[in-house]
Amino acid sequence: MARIGTDINEAVELLKSGNVVAIPTETVYGLAANALNESAVKLIFSTKERPMTNPLIIHLPSLEAAQKYVQDLSPLAKKLASVFCPGPLTMVLPKKKIVPNTVTAGLPDVAIRIPNHPLTLSLLRNIDFPLAAPSANPFGYISPTTAQHVANQLGEKIPYILDGGLCQKGLESTIVSFQNNKVVVYRLGAIALEDLAEVVGVENLILDNLKLEKPLSPGMLPYHYSPHTPLHLTMNLENDILNYNLNKIGIITLNKVIKDVPTKHQIQLSKTNNLRIAGHLLYNAMHELDALALDAIFVEKMPDEGIGKTMNDRLKRAAYKRQQ
Ligand code: TXA
Ligand code: MG
Repeated sequence: MARIGTDINEAVELLKSGNVVAIPTETVYGLAANALNESAVKLIFSTKERPMTNPLIIHLPSLEAAQKYVQDLSPLAKKLASVFCPGPLTMVLPKKKIVPNTVTAGLPDVAIRIPNHPLTLSLLRNIDFPLAAPSANPFGYISPTTAQHVANQLGEKIPYILDGGLCQKGLESTIVSFQNNKVVVYRLGAIALEDLAEVVGVENLILDNLKLEKPLSPGMLPYHYSPHTPLHLTMNLENDILNYNLNKIGIITLNKVIKDVPTKHQIQLSKTNNLRIAGHLLYNAMHELDALALDAIFVEKMPDEGIGKTMNDRLKRAAYKRQQ
């Protein structure tokens, strides 16, 4: 069983010797390995049971450190980075040869990110290689936002989990690439579209890739982020629960309380309707209710703005399998 702790030296030693280690970031926990060591990278894929066609993000301590792995940054990429790095921004950029093809699933581009978490930043400063790290969940399951979530899902398979507490953002990074001086958004994430638009102008954002099916970016599957319990995304909660045994369902809302459903099966994400707080707590709430072995989990659709858009994207994917 994985040890859980805050010992950076232990993490450094394991990573240097080609092992995987779970690391905290401000978005979700990652399952990290030396990005320059092919067999360590393969261990990430096998531990997660993730298809090798799904490329990994490499994590670095600074933009300067990134220069060794990507071709020159365009002025637009530098502008975004100056505002959002370190932070929940992942940039897909033409790679240098040193980045193994296993990391990028054979693509000519590599995704880079500078995570904003003190433990992981200090870990990254103590090694001389980048960390390839997908979210530390078994493929298709909800991403972990605490060390305990990682232990519950992958604890049997990994030696160490660096414990950085509950992730501050609670949703994965926003992924972008660049095309003809515009920003192509590959994945909605912890940076809201409105915040990107404020920096680069809404006319410079390309959003075509965000549809649920057939996205440009490999790995953006229509089903993902799913609990084991069937999850329903609903705009009409009171009505949709009518055919269920109300003692055996879980409810996640922004703020609403549902009469006749046990209080211990209900989670309100933000009493003040704050979508950032709601995003921070969403996966934690899904993990919590999934552990209760209920018949179903109903999640109220969030307002379609800011972080609410990201939450709805994840919830649609989490519910996808059940609509077939
Ligand atoms: O917040 C996050 O981004 C977390 C933390 C751990 O950093 N990581 C994460 O990784 O969410 P993962 O592997 O679960 O999702 C990364 C996604 C891939 O599924 C793929 O869609 C996209 O990033 N991606 C990675 N490399 C890419 C590339 N070269 N071209 C296009 N898309 C890429
Ligand atoms: Mg993931």
